[in-house]
Amino acid sequence: MPEIKFKLNGKKIKFDCPDNWTLLRMLRDGLRLTGTKEGCGKGECGACSVIMNGELVNSCLVLGNQVDNAEIITIEGLSENGELDRIQKAFIEHGAVQCGFCTPGMILAAKTLLISNPNPTLEDVREALSGNLCRCTGYKKIFEAILSLKES
Ligand code: FES
Ligand code: FES
Repeated sequence: MPEIKFKLNGKKIKFDCPDNWTLLRMLRDGLRLTGTKEGCGKGECGACSVIMNGELVNSCLVLGNQVDNAEIITIEGLSENGELDRIQKAFIEHGAVQCGFCTPGMILAAKTLLISNPNPTLEDVREALSGNLCRCTGYKKIFEAILSLKES
């Protein structure tokens, strides 16, 4: 079982990763970080989104050995000193926390977007969240929450 070393939510960790485990499985079953959700399990829904080396990835498609030396941020890593990230707060304020299943991935997609583009247009937001599917209530409040965080 290879030992994987990586940075998870700002902390260096080591994990003995069974050969065929994905990052999603490592997070949920190995490390008990269950904020990252499993939806389709094949790269289509975005429920398992995490930030890996600054990019949004579907953790169900990343093998454990690809994580060696990487930096991973999950939804659990966004709050600081018990205080929610401004995106989490905006989602709450705009009623954009809907089923809870897609929400962690949506928030991490928004986080990745706002780091690279602090003033996104609606089209930018649509594009950034195009891999994160909602099967029930829709995207309007989610887009409004993200657009409320534009810096100008
Ligand atoms: S569970 Fe990974 S994309 Fe759906
Ligand atoms: S799938 Fe989560 S709100 Fe629709």
